[in-house]
Amino acid sequence: MNQFIAAIDQGTTSSRCIIFDHDGRIVSLAQKEHRQFLPRSGWVEHDPEELWLNTREVGAAALAKADLRRSDIAAIGLTNQRETTVVWDRTTGKPVYNAIVWQDTRTDRLVEELAGDAGPDRYREVTGLPLSTYFAGPKVRWILDNVDGARERAEAGDLAFGTVDSWILWNLTGGVGEEGQPPGLHITDVTNASRTLLMNLGTQQWDPEICAELGIPESMLPEIHSSSEVYGHARERGPLAGVPIAGILGDQQAATFGQGCLSPGEAKNTYGTGNFLLLNTGTTPVRSEHGLITTVCYRIGDAPAVYALEGSVAVTGSLVQWLRDNLGLIRSADEIEALAASVPDNGGAYFVPAFSGLFAPRWRPDARGVIAGLTRFVEKGHLARAALEATAYQTREVIEAMNADSGVDLRTLKVDGGMVANDLLMQFQSDILGVPVVRPTVSETTALGAAYAAGLAVGFWEDEEDIRRNWTADRTWEPAMPVDERERLFGEWNKAVERTYDWA
Ligand code: G3P
Repeated sequence: MNQFIAAIDQGTTSSRCIIFDHDGRIVSLAQKEHRQFLPRSGWVEHDPEELWLNTREVGAAALAKADLRRSDIAAIGLTNQRETTVVWDRTTGKPVYNAIVWQDTRTDRLVEELAGDAGPDRYREVTGLPLSTYFAGPKVRWILDNVDGARERAEAGDLAFGTVDSWILWNLTGGVGEEGQPPGLHITDVTNASRTLLMNLGTQQWDPEICAELGIPESMLPEIHSSSEVYGHARERGPLAGVPIAGILGDQQAATFGQGCLSPGEAKNTYGTGNFLLLNTGTTPVRSEHGLITTVCYRIGDAPAVYALEGSVAVTGSLVQWLRDNLGLIRSADEIEALAASVPDNGGAYFVPAFSGLFAPRWRPDARGVIAGLTRFVEKGHLARAALEATAYQTREVIEAMNADSGVDLRTLKVDGGMVANDLLMQFQSDILGVPVVRPTVSETTALGAAYAAGLAVGFWEDEEDIRRNWTADRTWEPAMPVDERERLFGEWNKAVERTYDWA
């Protein structure tokens, strides 16, 4: 009975359910990809109903695969792609528009208007964030301005906004409330709320002034809760019916938790569709002077919130998908490593994937992607290599900003996410940083972090020591590149990045 925790991870490309045992080991995993809608240049959407149906499906599949019943599951932890915005009708349960994904840049003009004379840091003091297309608030405003009747319905209290955690939780706990049941819970956790540009970092509540300035009625907003508490139970019908939902964390915060970065100064870097480096800064929010953002890392029950400095890079793994889907350079994502290894170096080519502008530390919405340094010598292998190297250079930019902000040089880098299976990339990452790169035994740290948050709330794990104890290293890459070569490459990368500016 109750020997496991189920973690639901609704991510940018797929939904997963992973079941963990008490040692933090994976017992079962089910995954399903969803469609990516790219209706115009810079626009990225998901179908919210597909996200919810896939989540249900993988929940049932993960249980079935391990031959488990819902009574074996002590709690559910929920983690999600952050900032992606859903607005739905409370009565019908139908979204009024597709989910606008975090990568989507349609709000660029709106963001510029909001910045006005105050500039992009207008809300940084209160929210920890620069004004950017990345965050949820401007996306909500876009829906209210562009979907027929949406503003009136929102003002009448008929519409609900949520990041993906809220949307899934609302459905998981009852949705519109079938057969006389109460409707689902309209809740978010403090880490997801801290990505909206609407939350005051100090009070951890919605900021009425910013909501008014963005034209977003507060009645649409979910209640902000901690990251670890029993919010409610999965609804009567459904694979996990009756199981408490006891943890919610944005996916990058979840990975930080799952990596056991629980003390100030500990950091992790996740290599997913984008890259997200988070440094735990303890219970005081640290304001960045070097282009990072300040975000809530987690809040466990009634304990004070723990904050992080974050370096968010929009495009890393999704560049490999782009080479596969848009150029046909490879047939599957894992072919990139062999293609990159077919040449000894990048042949002078640099690929700056500024597809959504550039996020941290440069925050250049006007940037668009370039491939620089092309000659007739350059072939497929060099492009594959340049694409992988781009991930490592962007990580170095973020780490330099982090070192400058914190005044302490990072000694080792804990990594996780899909791309850490790529040996060539991890070696190059260590080379270009000049520090060791360490991968944990369980590299599914995002789901694990959500599981920990839920397990702590129901007493499945006792305290944070349990989490630290479960963390073990699997593999370490040591830097092997001469310093002058490292600096030469990084210098050329910087020249290439400057070519992306003033384009859009
Ligand atoms: O901020 C965006 C981030 O949460 C997306 O993560 O892993 O779904 O690409 P992922």
